[in-house]
Amino acid sequence: MSVRRLHSEQPESFAFTEENAAYLKKVIARYPEGRQASAVIPALMVAQDQEGWVSRPAIETVAKLLDMAEIRVLEVATFYTQFQLAPVGRKAHIQVCGTTPCRLRGADELITICKNRLAAHPFELSADGDFSWEEVECAGACVNAPMVTVGKDTYEDLTAETFNALIDGLADGNPPAPGPQTGRFFSAPEGGGTALTDSALYDGSVVGKYRAFDREELTPAPAAAPAPAAAAAPAAKPATEKPAAEKPIPKVVEAQGQADAEKVPDQYKPELLEAARDGKPDDLRLIWGVGSKLEEMLHKLGVYHYDQIAGWNEMNLKWVDQNLGSFRGRALRDKWIEQSAKLATGWRPSDKDGDKPA
Ligand code: FES
Repeated sequence: MSVRRLHSEQPESFAFTEENAAYLKKVIARYPEGRQASAVIPALMVAQDQEGWVSRPAIETVAKLLDMAEIRVLEVATFYTQFQLAPVGRKAHIQVCGTTPCRLRGADELITICKNRLAAHPFELSADGDFSWEEVECAGACVNAPMVTVGKDTYEDLTAETFNALIDGLADGNPPAPGPQTGRFFSAPEGGGTALTDSALYDGSVVGKYRAFDREELTPAPAAAPAPAAAAAPAAKPATEKPAAEKPIPKVVEAQGQADAEKVPDQYKPELLEAARDGKPDDLRLIWGVGSKLEEMLHKLGVYHYDQIAGWNEMNLKWVDQNLGSFRGRALRDKWIEQSAKLATGWRPSDKDGDKPA
């Protein structure tokens, strides 16, 4: 990072336009009496937006406006790389992040492009005066490295190709949309999300329902008798090893294991519907543990109503459960038949007490 000093050539004077002065008056009024100095960054930014850079007369004007010592305003202007202390390119001043994550992801290539296309050195104007560039420290978008800042926008996940396209767009007055240039959503994983894929984890559908969690009710059924092969396994085991039967078995895993063991044949497939009756499905998300994703899967299977589920027997429930992909085990664990029977009577859980249907 370069030493930040005021430019050797300075204008005679600086004054805010009437419009900018009126805007700053409102900004300053946001702060309590005696705390006007808090508006120093917005004031310097307005000065920069007006002139293209921050000159010494602008710093003096801001100091006077906010009743600050000039050195205090100078400190702020020279500290933040958002403030340009010399005239910059008319169309864009490109700030290339050169800190480690961006370096490791190709910042060198971006800097080479700046040198070849814009100007050989930082802060030098391009031949047509439209561009200038500099290297700056981390701009806080490391997860989308490498990146550049242009004015108030950042362009991220750049490659040589997309960076060249950005320069072309800025030159034509038609830059690409700011943000990641790979099409990903902010800093979401490339190729889409891999976590929190069950919307019930964040859509609020189970908020508070844990209060009604009945541990007794959800205690797993006793484990099945060991298979003959397991029973015939060598008896000699280290004395310190806890017998397998005593190890706690996570409820969901057990439910999954049971489902695997009992592949339910299609003869137990319950009656399913082509569509909701009268086009009005029940809100299956009121069933404890069912979120938007699971509701969508149930609809695809042909399940739309509480009374449908309430009419199933245990084998029907198991058949449906084994068709719920990664949610398998949940229908049995959460006793959907009992929950649906209660919901079918018109009973509704109250958000306040986090009640569950069954
Ligand atoms: S290292 Fe480049 S944005 Fe943080």
